[in-house]
Amino acid sequence: HEMSKYIITVFGASGDLSKKKTFPAIFGLFKQGELKAEECRIVGYARSNMTTEDLRSRLKPFLLKQGDENLVDKFLAHVTYVHGPYDEASGYIKLREAYTDLEKELAENSNKSVGRLHYLALPPSVFGTVCGQIKENLYEDDISTKIIVEKPFGHDLESSRQLQKELAPLFSEEELYRIDHYLGKEMVKNLLVLRFGNIFFNAAWNKENIQNIQITFKEPFGTEGRGGYFNDIGIIRDVMQNHLLQVLTLLTMERPVSFDAEAVRDEKVKVLKAIAPFDHNDIIIGQYGKSEDNSKPSYLDDETVPEGSKCITFAALNFKIRNERWDGVPIVMKAGKALDAGKVEIRIQFKQVASGIFNEIPNNELVIRVQPDEAVYFKCNMKTPGLSTTTKVTDLDLTYADRYKDFWIPQAYEALIRDALIGDHSNFVRDDELDVSWKLFTPLLNYLEGKDAPVPSIYPYGSRGPENLNEYMKAHGYVYMKGDTYTWPITRPK
Ligand code: BG6
Repeated sequence: HEMSKYIITVFGASGDLSKKKTFPAIFGLFKQGELKAEECRIVGYARSNMTTEDLRSRLKPFLLKQGDENLVDKFLAHVTYVHGPYDEASGYIKLREAYTDLEKELAENSNKSVGRLHYLALPPSVFGTVCGQIKENLYEDDISTKIIVEKPFGHDLESSRQLQKELAPLFSEEELYRIDHYLGKEMVKNLLVLRFGNIFFNAAWNKENIQNIQITFKEPFGTEGRGGYFNDIGIIRDVMQNHLLQVLTLLTMERPVSFDAEAVRDEKVKVLKAIAPFDHNDIIIGQYGKSEDNSKPSYLDDETVPEGSKCITFAALNFKIRNERWDGVPIVMKAGKALDAGKVEIRIQFKQVASGIFNEIPNNELVIRVQPDEAVYFKCNMKTPGLSTTTKVTDLDLTYADRYKDFWIPQAYEALIRDALIGDHSNFVRDDELDVSWKLFTPLLNYLEGKDAPVPSIYPYGSRGPENLNEYMKAHGYVYMKGDTYTWPITRPK
């Protein structure tokens, strides 16, 4: 993958996302030698009236978390700032002038062409305006242009289509990169290889062998401070319609004809289309209350949250995929804030072995631990070592921190920005994927936010979620092992 030279412009450079995620990710690539000083310049753009020096000192503390001062200064020397409005040409004209100088600088080293990557670290309400101005003032037919946009891509099917309608006439699908940062996570990128590169897993990946699938997202903190923002979104839009659904499609799609971005995304769309509409009576919704010891606030305690809000901070949804591979297999996606742990994992429970020789032998489980502590482990039964003839649950465990000590595992944003630079769309969301996913979720959201919306059950901050969760999982085929004392090594107390 030959990378050409790039001017990366971060729109919204004075905002939170850019200092916490975007710039640190660009810096991370620089630190790893994936971006070279002689091939790249970074420009921050925002309305705030500050200087290049101001921007550099704002960013510095965030970058120092990742690298020493010497390296941070070297990187920042290539970062400049331009300020101007988002909705008028004047600022963009200043940017164009800045590009002329930077292009000259970059041309000194080699005659590779200089592309432009525009990173919109901005709220979607201005995507259309900014993209319009970019097209008008910063676009040239013979210069490679890439636009990275961040979620939310709409609030429902209609607003998502509206957004798409604004962007489509300006930039081609080739030029647009819609980030879903879960697609940049190592274990999510590993899914296709794990499935299709291993005959053993591949052979078992179907309704004949699988009893139940769970995709779980847990955060140990609430919306503290972000309640006002979260209230209009809720957990389903925040992480399920996007991040976890992406994981689900990669986990359940058919084999693509190649690893080519379009081939992969064609299969993702296909499986999305095979998902049955949600059954509104077959979901669990919750909102966190105070912790049991009263030390942690309830969602409604947040002053930025409207009184009596029914906003959902926990949900469990059952997906039914109507195709030959998955018909009848319950796939449960659950996500919640203010729970007992912080982790994201996929758990595939296999069917019971034939009856007869064993008395209650536990079901196998394959766990793909997305974060933290990336791992793939397979819970299986072995004879208790020694003279005993009983069986024992143990695991085949691939814990990345043990096995892959010498590898650099990029952060999601690092991986994705690099993908955009080399023009690989595989890990970005295509327009039709977005459309199908909103088609699936919009009726559910309308129901949950409509006049007759059900009231979410209150679960204590720091708990596992609403009380009826275990019942729900059992009803969807998950078998809890009796007297199971197994714990995965990392979760075992040291
Ligand atoms: C974001 C959500 O998209 O993803 C946040 O808006 C959530 O609410 C975050 O905390 C989770 O991402 P990660 O990478 O920390 O798992």
